[in-house]
Amino acid sequence: MITETKPTTHEIAVTVNGAEHSLEVEPRLLLVHLLREKLGLTGTHVGCDTTSCGACTVLVDGVPIKSCTHFAVQVDGREVKTVEGLKQGAELDPIPEEEIRWAISGNICRCTGYQNIVKAVQWAAKNMRESA
Ligand code: FES
Repeated sequence: MITETKPTTHEIAVTVNGAEHSLEVEPRLLLVHLLREKLGLTGTHVGCDTTSCGACTVLVDGVPIKSCTHFAVQVDGREVKTVEGLKQGAELDPIPEEEIRWAISGNICRCTGYQNIVKAVQWAAKNMRESA
């Protein structure tokens, strides 16, 4: 006789982008999947799934972490900020240009076009400031 067992779940309380959530999650659920699939925050991406690219980076209590290598249960009682949380109203914050290289330093660009990425961020920041 085969008996099915329900997966064990844990209740976690987490604040994401200022909103409090209480969720039942399996212990194996990765934080990136919690954000994307349970909370609909698709600005956090899975690029490599091997902690190399940084596409899944979020802030946990203000510290950047790669959400593809953290379990959702690890953020119980903590505060998470995703790219969506960087918005002020409907707009993203202007990006301080001196922080651009630091901010992308955890991301590996497979085409090695870092200079063009920096230029693109500078262009976006300039346009955002001018339209504000
Ligand atoms: Fe690449 Fe997380 S998906 S570091």
